[in-house]
Amino acid sequence: MILDTTHLNRERTFFEPDETIWLFGYGSLIWKAEFDYHERRPAHIEGWTRRFWQGSHDHRGTPKAPGRVVTLVESPGTVCQGMAYRIDAETLAQLDIREKNGYLRELAVLHFPDGSHAEGLIYLATADNAAFLGDAPLDAMARQIAAAHGPSGPNRDYLLNLAIALEDLGADDPHVFALAALVRHCCAE
Ligand code: BEZ
Repeated sequence: MILDTTHLNRERTFFEPDETIWLFGYGSLIWKAEFDYHERRPAHIEGWTRRFWQGSHDHRGTPKAPGRVVTLVESPGTVCQGMAYRIDAETLAQLDIREKNGYLRELAVLHFPDGSHAEGLIYLATADNAAFLGDAPLDAMARQIAAAHGPSGPNRDYLLNLAIALEDLGADDPHVFALAALVRHCCAE
């Protein structure tokens, strides 16, 4: 199910067009920064946790065999670590197209390791979007990820690149690390 949110995101203008915008990356944006940015800094947001609960029918899977990619779910008291990019509004418009399958721009407070913070944006796919898959037993999610391929490549690479990037950040993410361990095990040659 492809849900093109590009036009919806165009209306979600929380910042002035000439302002630079902090965007918090918690998925592929951490390790795949193929866009222009002014600054890139590790950051975290509070009250959210990362989950492989969003279907990918256009990047890491197909409409018939969707993959799984991350979204955020509310989780009071939890920290989600990722990477922040300070970008221009034009760059955000380009990313809206890349991240169009069910994700909407939302405001979030980004916290930096030096103790400072800034208001910025996240892309969020909530349970009411058509591509949302939700929770499933971890081994079933791992098998789905191990099997799925899409125009952007194997779903497995998305997960394993994310796990490596989070390790490099020193982030603790039991959900991602457990899935990565299962997928490495079931895909070992
Ligand atoms: C992210 O890396 O933050 C992200 C990428 C695609 C969709 C949503 C979030």
